[in-house]
Amino acid sequence: MVSEVEQQPIIISAEAEHLEEISTLAGDIWREYFPGMISSEQIECMLSQGYTLEVLSHEILAQGISYDLMLLGSELIGFASYGPTQASGEMKLHKLYIAPEFHGKGYGSKLLKHVESTVSKRGCKTLVLTVNKNNRRAIDSYERNGFTVCDSVVVDIGSGFVMDDYVMAKNLDLAEACVCLRIGWIPCRLTTLEESDDRNCLT
Ligand SMILES: CC(C)(COP(=O)(O)OP(=O)(O)OC[C@H]1O[C@@H](n2cnc3c(N)ncnc32)[C@H](O)[C@@H]1OP(=O)(O)O)[C@@H](O)C(=O)NCCC(=O)NCCS
Repeated sequence: MVSEVEQQPIIISAEAEHLEEISTLAGDIWREYFPGMISSEQIECMLSQGYTLEVLSHEILAQGISYDLMLLGSELIGFASYGPTQASGEMKLHKLYIAPEFHGKGYGSKLLKHVESTVSKRGCKTLVLTVNKNNRRAIDSYERNGFTVCDSVVVDIGSGFVMDDYVMAKNLDLAEACVCLRIGWIPCRLTTLEESDDRNCLT
């Protein structure tokens, strides 16, 4: 008997027509995943600050932020957003979200690798992100994918709420150099390897 092959997700770039679906999925994920980590009042505050259609379109049209979508069949099951920072050669992963029923299947890592490859092609050497200090699952996933904690920040987001986050960073040049070394290419990026301590990760 032929075993059923599990359908694999695909990743596409978001278009204007997807924004409503992104906003809805973000609300579903935040209201299911974050209670216990932050209050429901803060969840609603962060959704209204970061996930309305107006905010999403402004990010894409005015701030140079890109959204990539993960689809399983025609179902949106996750998304990531990323864009430039003020530091040369650096980009920030703003959002990485997978619907909770699809956690633990490696889909977050797959989407993250896709983002890394995309930003590398755009000249990004360092990818930075912030993550809630209590979001152990996400921190573990980022560490498995080669990110390290390099700072911590407390950001006042108004209405009496703060984001108490770690800053994490990954040197994409270093990752590329490691791949070169592993498969036996000439390690032409070793000079960059030596410079890699200077992560310049603050945003
Ligand atoms: C952070 C987040 C994106 C991680 O997504 P994920 O798909 O669960 O994470 P990973 O890709 O690292 O999956 C790894 C898990 O899948 C398992 N796995 C199964 N098949 C796998 C495969 N083919 N490849 C890799 N891992 C696989 C691993 O064993 C691991 O299991 P574990 O978590 O029990 O140790 C997800 O938890 C999420 O969306 N959280 C809510 C939003 C959030 O917090 N975002 C981050 C804000 S900064």
